[in-house]
Amino acid sequence: MLDVKKIRQQFPIYDFNPDLVYLDTGASSLKPKVVIDVVDHYYSKLGVNVHRGVYGLSYEATDLYEAARTTVARFLNAKFEEIVFTRGTTASLNLVASSYQNILQAGDEIITSELEHHSSVLPWLQVSKKTGAKLVYVPLNEEGRITVEAFQSVLTDQTKVVALTYVSNVMGYITPIKEIIDLAHQKGAVVVVDAAQAAPHMKIDVTALNADFLAFSGHKILGPTGIGVLYGKKHLLNKMEPVEFGGDMVDQVELYDATWKDAPYRFEAGTPIISGAIGLGKAIEFIESIGFDDIHAHVHALHQYTLEKLKAIPGITVFNPTSETGIITFNVDFVHPHDAASIFDQNKVCLRAGHHCAQLITKWLKQLATLRATFYIYNDYADADRFIESVKEAVRFFQAF
Ligand SMILES: Cc1ncc(COP(=O)(O)O)c(C=O)c1O
Repeated sequence: MLDVKKIRQQFPIYDFNPDLVYLDTGASSLKPKVVIDVVDHYYSKLGVNVHRGVYGLSYEATDLYEAARTTVARFLNAKFEEIVFTRGTTASLNLVASSYQNILQAGDEIITSELEHHSSVLPWLQVSKKTGAKLVYVPLNEEGRITVEAFQSVLTDQTKVVALTYVSNVMGYITPIKEIIDLAHQKGAVVVVDAAQAAPHMKIDVTALNADFLAFSGHKILGPTGIGVLYGKKHLLNKMEPVEFGGDMVDQVELYDATWKDAPYRFEAGTPIISGAIGLGKAIEFIESIGFDDIHAHVHALHQYTLEKLKAIPGITVFNPTSETGIITFNVDFVHPHDAASIFDQNKVCLRAGHHCAQLITKWLKQLATLRATFYIYNDYADADRFIESVKEAVRFFQAF
């Protein structure tokens, strides 16, 4: 088990909110002091642009920015030039889709699923409308999972792109992505992996997975908001047209033509998210210092403990009892989640109510919305107990009506 007390001491938010029960890491994680400190260091002591300045401060800022890229590359087992800094998962996935809009044509097929976050499905929905490529959904099994067999049933010679989530932000299921990538490659399709919920919880090795593209967000893995990563295979990135044009991404500019730098810089037009990248690098080091084995064991234990207690409360429906990650999606029967959420809020229990930017799976569950609790390294059994007490209070309160 992790020493949660010691971990919490490293998250200043608990100094200001000692009663906080934070169960919304699925939306955004808390930030450790080391991350806040490096961001502060950049703004206090450097604060200048990268790649441009011909003076010491700029060289130093550039070194820190590019060192963060090296850290991310190591984290994913990728090459330095395969790491593009973006605004987040949404921006990364849109980047790939916008670029593939120039490549796809009518008759091509794009496979996705009803488990996707909107940022994984909507860019491809738009590409499909614009190019005439067909959007094809993997049928989910009775639990709402993507299986290899179901994937095979929709994979065809026309499949050009597969856009799937690694871990669902509503169900918490882990997609059998390695098998799917291998099958997709047999048809010559590229696979775009949404790893926004996977990156905080498991070791991702893009080389072992043989993923073509993979995206995640800094703010979900203890880093700052406004920074994210797009991993792409070098030869694919260098074949893709940039989708934004401006400073720092260009090689030669003539009156009526221009050439682009190689990846990653061709996709980083304009002043980049310098402090965000530096903060993300530090967040990754922090996570690595704890280790995914311990993170997984801790989150799994809390998840199981909470789930058993939750299932024992009459009037509660849990939609993902077999989830492998620390995500519990549930409802208080006959009560709208936003009403139930007010009880949690009164008790300083932060969780999420709504469709979690994943309307398709919420509709698949035949719900208008759901409640979602997510666990991470700074949660303990006392958090789980306060959460369960709040659930009981919500049931009692709403049963009175
Ligand atoms: C599975 C999944 N994909 C994509 C996203 C989008 O991430 P961001 O809002 O950081 O771009 C999220 C965020 O909730 C997510 O959970």
